[in-house]
Amino acid sequence: VSAVPYSTFRFNANLHQLTEFSSINELQETQYDSAPVVLGEGSNTIFMQDLQVPVCRFVANNKTVTALDDNFVLVHVEAGHNWHQLVSWTVEEKLWGIENLALIPGSVGAAPVQNIGAYGVELADSCLYVDFYHWQQRKVQRIAAGRCQFGYRDSVFKRTLAGEGIIVAVGLILSKMAKPVLSYKGLDHLTADTAIADIFNQVIAIRSAKLPDPAKLANCGSFFKNPVISMQQFTKLQALFTGMPGFVQDDGTVKVPAAWLIDQQGFKGQSIGAIACYEQQPLVLVNRGTGSATELAQLINAIQHKVASVYNIQLEPEVRMLNAKGQLSQ
Ligand code: EPU
Repeated sequence: VSAVPYSTFRFNANLHQLTEFSSINELQETQYDSAPVVLGEGSNTIFMQDLQVPVCRFVANNKTVTALDDNFVLVHVEAGHNWHQLVSWTVEEKLWGIENLALIPGSVGAAPVQNIGAYGVELADSCLYVDFYHWQQRKVQRIAAGRCQFGYRDSVFKRTLAGEGIIVAVGLILSKMAKPVLSYKGLDHLTADTAIADIFNQVIAIRSAKLPDPAKLANCGSFFKNPVISMQQFTKLQALFTGMPGFVQDDGTVKVPAAWLIDQQGFKGQSIGAIACYEQQPLVLVNRGTGSATELAQLINAIQHKVASVYNIQLEPEVRMLNAKGQLSQ
């Protein structure tokens, strides 16, 4: 089948086998000789070549709600549920916790893999557990959030559990009491009594203003992670490059906006063939329609080399780029 509908970067590749599972029983009836590529809605995956290994998706999308006590609710959501639709529902129900994560493309099952985060909130803040079906054990294991190794765009599902199975459900704990997170630029003018719907709408407004809608312009959101460097390196760089922004982390390291580094080096609006660095947010690369994996690789290399030579900072891809064998190609 054509990979075009299965990646929001829309490269013209082929998937030789694609299976959609809607129950644990169906998973248990299937035997893979080698690990398949697990796909959600393809909003963070780029097929750089025709895929020779099987691809699978878990598409069941039910949710169940259980009151834990007067204040907290457990929402158990199957992996195939769309993420933004879930967020919209929590806002209607006035259940606090994930409203800042509005408009993030993709499925609920993909959310824990890179611990989606935006506007001062990440999935890890509300996640109670992840249900993971093991190909080998042929059963579902419930992994408590504390064992998911959540980090910045990182989790156990990208590490030791990569290729071992497929996420089938996520358990979220949400609050009936207001818990606004308004620290991020763009939300910091809101007051503590702001309604959940107003926060949700404000996040949607900020995102729509600077991030391209993947339905209209092919993209996978932020292309690189924001690099984290030592305070020593940051101090040196700030002396050389006035105005260089940086956010001090709990462990004393400094997270530098990749968008600033890319912007300063003049890549904003630049393109190679049909692959371009987006004008409103240079951290996003877009495919204007006829782009190729070769052009994308050239633009990535140009950005990485320039940033490394000027700042001695290595930009790492945030997007999952897959080769024919389903392995990371960058
Ligand atoms: N900046 C520029 N030029 C620009 C745009 C931004 O210099 O044209 C600099 C500014 O200093 C700005 C800073 O970059 O203050 C940060 O920009 P922004 O607030 O847009 O956030 P980001 O760091 O580029 C991250 C996430 C986004 C998330 C936003 C909001 C990563 C890799 N990206 O972007 O996540 O929506 O913060 O929390 O951490 C995604 O992962 O796909 C994604 C969109």
